Amino acid sequence: MENSNHLKNIVDDAASITAVVKAAMSQTDNPRLKELLDALVDHGHAFLKQVKLTDEEFEKGLDFVRAVGLACNDKHNEVVLLADVLGLSTLVTLLNNSDASGRTPGALLGPFYRGDSPQYANGECIACENSPGSPLFVNGRVLNTKGEPVANAKVDVWQASPVGLYENQDSSQPDKNLRGHFYTDSEGRFTCKSVRPAGYPVPTDGPVGVLLERQNRHPFRPAHLHFVIIAEGYATLVSQVFADDSEHLNSDVVFGVNRRLVGTFQRHDSGTGPKRDVDRLYYTLDYDFVLAEGTPTYPTPPIK
Ligand code: BEZ
Ligand code: FE
Repeated sequence: MENSNHLKNIVDDAASITAVVKAAMSQTDNPRLKELLDALVDHGHAFLKQVKLTDEEFEKGLDFVRAVGLACNDKHNEVVLLADVLGLSTLVTLLNNSDASGRTPGALLGPFYRGDSPQYANGECIACENSPGSPLFVNGRVLNTKGEPVANAKVDVWQASPVGLYENQDSSQPDKNLRGHFYTDSEGRFTCKSVRPAGYPVPTDGPVGVLLERQNRHPFRPAHLHFVIIAEGYATLVSQVFADDSEHLNSDVVFGVNRRLVGTFQRHDSGTGPKRDVDRLYYTLDYDFVLAEGTPTYPTPPIK
């Protein structure tokens, strides 16, 4: 006669499977991994029961996940894009970066962050020579939650071009154009010259594009600059600053806009304002970033 141990993975009905699967996973050594997988099975099974998923829908869902994986390569990360358009990336950012300390809110890293950006001295330009578009002068400060300057913080900046393309999407831009890092001075200041970025559609030529279309959603992000700020003794800030006059500010397809991250992109006519020698219409952005105390972390680039 078989003892009950031999029957432990036998599932006779939908009501019993969740407990059986969790029992099968119960030897997971790492307690945090066990917690995550138990909750994934609990919520995943509850989801299937709630929507009464059909066989056909299950197959379609698996095909979709497969297509998302197949759309990835060294230069494109469709998995990150999917997490972004479903609000998962922004929710994780909010869960991990929101408190009452006064620190600058985080915003999603996005699929276009590349490591190893070129280093620039304060005031230098991250846009290639003869770049089209309106010049943009960024005057940033990095402070702690007491309002004191954070010196020697590494400020990594990247952005789309004035036509809304990152350099890795656009063969007309040199490698690592519109990407660079700066270090803050003793007053916590950094200054960066660039060109004003445009808003842009997220990539729509893969399965995520099909999803957006089926949902009748537009694919646009408002114009923004990305920042990763890393300093000894502080939690790393991954964030974005959005142009206050940008289209789609209220309907970002990846839900990244937080009111505190909207910066004033001040417009100046040629021959006026703080940079009178500029021969074109230009913009300035003054923005203070506030870091919370903590341990620096280093985001993993989703592409090479
Ligand atoms: C970005 O801001 O670079 C981005 C974020 C989410 C999806 C696509 C692009
Ligand atoms: Fe972006």
